[in-house]
Amino acid sequence: MSGTTAVAPRGKLREALDYLLWFYTPFKRMSASDIYELVSTNAYSGQGLYLNLGYWKTARTIDEACVAMAMLVAETAGIGPDTDVVDVGFGFGDQDMLWVERLNARHITGLNITPSQVKLARERVATRGLSDRITLLEASATRMPLPDASCDRVVGVECAFHFDTREDFFREAFRVLRPGGRLVLADVIRAHPDPRPFRRRVQDFNWRFFEQKYAVPSANADTRESYAAKLTATGFAGARVDSIRHEVYPGLHHHMATDPAMLKRFHPLARLPYKLTLRFDADAVYSAYDYVLAVAEKPR
Ligand SMILES: C[S@@+](CC[C@H](N)C(=O)[O-])C[C@H]1O[C@@H](n2cnc3c(N)ncnc32)[C@H](O)[C@@H]1O
Repeated sequence: MSGTTAVAPRGKLREALDYLLWFYTPFKRMSASDIYELVSTNAYSGQGLYLNLGYWKTARTIDEACVAMAMLVAETAGIGPDTDVVDVGFGFGDQDMLWVERLNARHITGLNITPSQVKLARERVATRGLSDRITLLEASATRMPLPDASCDRVVGVECAFHFDTREDFFREAFRVLRPGGRLVLADVIRAHPDPRPFRRRVQDFNWRFFEQKYAVPSANADTRESYAAKLTATGFAGARVDSIRHEVYPGLHHHMATDPAMLKRFHPLARLPYKLTLRFDADAVYSAYDYVLAVAEKPR
């Protein structure tokens, strides 16, 4: 399914105006849920409705790359028949259906703040006959409506940079995990500062742009070190924050340049800025960002 229907279409004029104000003027700052309501089902994946940048180690298409990112998180977490999982920021639920169907996860509770995504994801889960294994709630990862020590894994695919704040989410994840449980996140953080002054300024500018346009609280401008330190300060043990940026940004950039169908799935007003980035190489476009796989455990 490529993403154009299912969520009630907004008035075309209103949608265009929102894109114009959001992307092309400094006036409109949108909340994460407003952004995802606007983007609606214009996901760039072709088969499903994934919204992550993809893990491109062996993937050749955006669909394979999005699934590979979801599987990387799930396999790192050790999701399987004995695990109750909390999946934060589940998008349209693609990864939850994947983890039940491919890994036989015992039960998944998803939390997401974007109402239209929750509604459509619930419908998709019901259509696949998975409603008894996947429960999807409209709720924030920073205030989970879940009991203490009620799950074995907390996972999040490319969403924790939005959370207000990531640290508050860590505390909630720690609370709902059972002793011995594991937290695994694919996440976007700041790259290490470039020692060259001009490049450093470009990184700073791009990160601020990212914060403003993509609803990223400035408290979440972590480096790998501060990320691991926050996990440890929350009480997690064995925190590891590994960069996978080389398996994400260059593959995505190359694919956007070589598969015109992918950009065509964007709203025309969202397409232009991404097209402009293709004039530069991936190192320049993504110099401000690291992309990490973070793992930590709640001590027994
Ligand atoms: C980039 S999308 C990733 C979606 C999905 N994980 C995927 O890989 O396709 C980010 C998701 O995080 C959700 N989100 C943002 N802030 C949130 C919060 N505070 N609590 C729960 N979900 C949130 C958005 O609604 C969106 O579904």
